[in-house]
Parts: sequence; C-alpha cells; structure tokens
Amino acid sequence: MTTQKMSFLKHIKPSVQKLETYNVKGKPLSSELIKLNQNENPFDLPEELKRELVEDFYHQPWNRYPDVFPTHLLEALSKDRNVPVESIIAANGSNELMYTIGLAIIGKGTKVLIPTPTFFLYEKIVNVMDGELIEVPMKPDLSFDVETIIRTAQKEKPALIILNSPNSPTGQSILIADVERILNETDSIIVVDEAYIEFSDKPSAATVLSKYDRLIILRTFSKAFSLAGLRIGYLLAQPAMVSELLKPKIPFTVNNFSASVAIKLLQKNDLVTERIRYIIQQRAYLYKNLSEQNGITVFRSDSNFLIFKSKNEASVLLERLLSENVLIRDVSSYPMLKGFLRVNAGTEFENNAFLTGLKKYL
Ligand SMILES: Cc1ncc(COP(=O)(O)O)c(C=O)c1O
Repeated sequence: MTTQKMSFLKHIKPSVQKLETYNVKGKPLSSELIKLNQNENPFDLPEELKRELVEDFYHQPWNRYPDVFPTHLLEALSKDRNVPVESIIAANGSNELMYTIGLAIIGKGTKVLIPTPTFFLYEKIVNVMDGELIEVPMKPDLSFDVETIIRTAQKEKPALIILNSPNSPTGQSILIADVERILNETDSIIVVDEAYIEFSDKPSAATVLSKYDRLIILRTFSKAFSLAGLRIGYLLAQPAMVSELLKPKIPFTVNNFSASVAIKLLQKNDLVTERIRYIIQQRAYLYKNLSEQNGITVFRSDSNFLIFKSKNEASVLLERLLSENVLIRDVSSYPMLKGFLRVNAGTEFENNAFLTGLKKYL
C-alpha cells in the first residue's frame, strides 16, 4: 500500500523532495500570548479605520476579478515613492515577488550569491528552481563582507545577488555605497530586500534606482505598515526590468480588499510614522535592557528585532519563555548564530513581559 501510494514521488523533482515545509514553531494566537517571534507590527489598524474599510469593501462586487495588476495601488505607490508606475510590481506579499524573480532568472545551475546568515526563503527558492547557491558568510561581527561578495561574484559570475538590508536575522544593513560598488564591479542582477528599511536610519537603495538597470528593490506592507495579514508587497526596478519580471508573474494575486487598505495606509503617513518611531524607541529599550543583563550578548539592529545569545541553550530558554506565554524565535540553527534567539520589538507592555520572563530564567 505504502509503495503504491508513494509511486508518484518519481515525478516530484528531487530538489523539492529534499525540502522541508516551512513552519513557524509556537502557540496559537490568543489574547494572553506575547507574540514577538515574526517581526510583526504590534499595532493593528485603528478600529474605526478597519470598520470604514470593511464597510467600503462590502459595496464592491466580490464576483469580479481584480485588475490583473492592481492599477489603483500602483498609481498610489507611484505617487508615494515618486517613481513611474512602470517601475512597480505589486504582489501578495514580497515573498511572492522573490519567487517571481526566481522564475525569471533561476534555472538549472544558475548561480545565485547570498550573504549568510539571511532570510531562509532565498536559499529555498534557489533550491526549488535547481539553481546553484553561493554563500558568502558575514564577517564575525555579522556585518556584510563586501570585499568577499565582490571577489566571489567576479570569480563565480552569479546571475543574481540577493542582499537583505537590514538583514534578517542579524539586523545589520549594507551601505548604499557598497550596494553601488557591487553593482559597478560585477554584472549580476542585484536584489535588495528592504522589508525592514522603515526602521533604519540608512537610506533606501531606491535613491540610486535611476542609475542601475540591474537593481531590484523589494518592499513590504507587512512590517512598518501593520498589514502582515493582508499580504501586500511590491518591487521597484527600472521599467525594462519590470517588463521582464511581469512575464512569469502569477496574475491577479493582489485582492481588491488588500489593495484598498494599502492605498488607505499610504494616506495615513502620520499614523505609520508615529508607530515606526515607537517601535524604534522600544528596540532601543530592549537593547539597553538586554545589554545590561549579565551573560547576555546582544547585537545592535537597524530593524524592528534584535538577536541575542545567553549562556542557556537557546531551545531551552525559548521553551521557558513560552511557559510564560512569551513567544520569541530560535535562530540558533542559522550559520554563525549558534545559541542565538531573536525577539522583535512589541509594545512596552509586551517587551516588559519578555524581559521579566527572561530575567526569571537566566
Ligand atoms: C527578509 C524578509 N523579506 C520579506 C519578508 C516579508 O515578506 P512579505 O511581504 O511576503 O510578508 C520578511 C518577513 O518576515 C522578511 O524577513
């Protein structure tokens, strides 16, 4: 019976069979859970705004397809970002766009360079698409090793280099001058995933987009804009690159509701900016408190999360915090991060609950 059932496996790509299904360890969402494990924004949209958006959506036809590519959202983004509409692709989260980029670029044996440790998805996409992964480790202080990235790219000639800045899970950024050096000294397509850029005081790579037709920038509404649950991401690139990337893209992935909420949030700059400021303050609060703890090593971060290491086994500390209803992330299996945990900045109440729980078990 089992062998019969499994006979389909010969048709599944070996590269897929080797993969693991993505899952996030933790507990179901509840009002008691202090959830600091997925770098989300701790604040939902204001109640009144949610009601207004839902009421509006009630009157829209649900039986009709949305635009193939969401025209109104693209126009709003174009105004907000000050780039032509032809420079933008919106999608059901920036993760989807990373797959789109992979579909356009990665085939069997295509070389893709990533600095590591970094966001798990890049490696997964390279593997699914049978590409060849070239990893360049971060420096011991977890900063980008720009010289080695350039040297390796000149030797290996990857089609694609993926830079996550600020980088997850390390929290550090690559300077725009260094992104430009990589662009100028290699001929690879460079993706800069800026999912966390709003929490950084460093400029976006978008400031140099007009100079480089090999540059692609990924942005998301999932973090600073509080919309992880509605799934909106977008990319910026020059129109010629956008034309190519649109070809393999899955059509209709931005639903009407998410698009209208994203458009609304682009008009709520004060609300979004205020929340970003709060989160940055809370990141500083967490950093100060963690660095004052005996036996804790914590790294500075340009993002909305921090990584830290204690003398305790990471998985044990994680479980202990979970028993206090505090959920953070074990990142100890990433290269160079043995013993490390990651916590994102929540509300002051949530951060205090985490710090209290942590102190109890140190
Ligand atoms: C590096 C990085 N890119 C992108 C995302 C978010 O992607 P999405 O826009 O699909 O929510 C995350 C979220 O965890 C991330 O850490």
